[in-house]
Amino acid sequence: MSPSQVRERFLFPREPLLHWGDLAGRARGRAPKLGEGWDVTLGHSARYALYRMLQGLPRTGRDEVLVPAFVCIALVEPILAAGYKVRFFDNPSLTGTDLELIRSLASDRTLAVVAVHYFGYRQDTAGLAGFCRDREILLIENFTHSLPVQDFVAHPDRLERCDVALFSLKKMLPAPDGGFVVHRRSLHVSVPREAPPRRMPILQELYRSAERTMQARRWRSSNGEAANPVQVPQADSVAAEIAASMHGLDLDRAGWGVSSASRRIWESADLDSIAASRRRNFGLIREALRGMPEIEFPFREAPSDSCLWGVPFLVRSIPDYDYKLRSAGLPLFTFARALHPGLGRDGFPIARAWAAQLKILPVHQDLTPDDIATIKPAFEALLARRLG
Ligand SMILES: Cc1ncc(COP(=O)(O)O)c(C=O)c1O
Repeated sequence: MSPSQVRERFLFPREPLLHWGDLAGRARGRAPKLGEGWDVTLGHSARYALYRMLQGLPRTGRDEVLVPAFVCIALVEPILAAGYKVRFFDNPSLTGTDLELIRSLASDRTLAVVAVHYFGYRQDTAGLAGFCRDREILLIENFTHSLPVQDFVAHPDRLERCDVALFSLKKMLPAPDGGFVVHRRSLHVSVPREAPPRRMPILQELYRSAERTMQARRWRSSNGEAANPVQVPQADSVAAEIAASMHGLDLDRAGWGVSSASRRIWESADLDSIAASRRRNFGLIREALRGMPEIEFPFREAPSDSCLWGVPFLVRSIPDYDYKLRSAGLPLFTFARALHPGLGRDGFPIARAWAAQLKILPVHQDLTPDDIATIKPAFEALLARRLG
């Protein structure tokens, strides 16, 4: 594409994130294709979709939701705002939910258990689903880190275990907003129709994401927000403040649906090829770091049926290593760096260790060979303690 075409067609020509055409015109209205027995609730983002759905759920004597402690504030706030209590559990694994722990916490007051498919790697929820069914507890599967491949929601074995499934558009697509919840019709959720979002806040989101992309990241675009590539170490209290502002719930947005700009981006995206590129980049990053000491990878393989958010890893022996690697040009990001304040100051050692130590390398679909080539030297310098 010539420079003038880039100027004409893209809103941010230096970072061709978004076509002008995405901002105007009618969306084709393609909602996720669902089988009989399922409904979908849209929202300004995943947290708002969950909030709207929980508000529309008929009330019973069950008023508690079990949530893994290692989780983003943005998942906890909508549950609280909808009037439910959250009970955290310190799950020992990123790839499965500890059934004994759930069994010890579940009671007649338990409405639901949340299972998060962290960073796009699916966890096997078969055992948990069986337990939930027996105890009439809802299973909420959180797919916000794994924008599904094209047929995901329609695929018969994907939703069979859960009662509610949560999705976010912003982590994989350069979309300013958008999330949705898929829920069983038998739950009789009654959600008021969503209103179209106001134009100004959507433009602000677009501007913010373009600004972050252009200034803060050296690797480019297409991972939406959530990444937080700050360059200098922060006090925990500052990190908590940033997290609260990024991941809180703005009730003014609670009634909004997905903007037409995001719908158009979603509709025109080739989700399968995005997932394939991200899988390929997972392989290239793993290859670049193969055999290096001190680096641990909680996930060995990229799953074939979902779209990865990133490559998580730990370097336990080097403090503040994320800032050091960022200074060498790698836009690492963190997840749940600041946990929800409802956890209090004590307990939950596993979640706290992951929050502090686990970092994620992006696998954006548009990483270039040059981006990938920066990885190995940066890690070599870190491990040789040359990065200060
Ligand atoms: C596990 C989890 N659930 C829910 C959310 C909320 O998603 P959204 O930002 O689309 O509201 C996030 C966001 O980071 C998340 O990590």
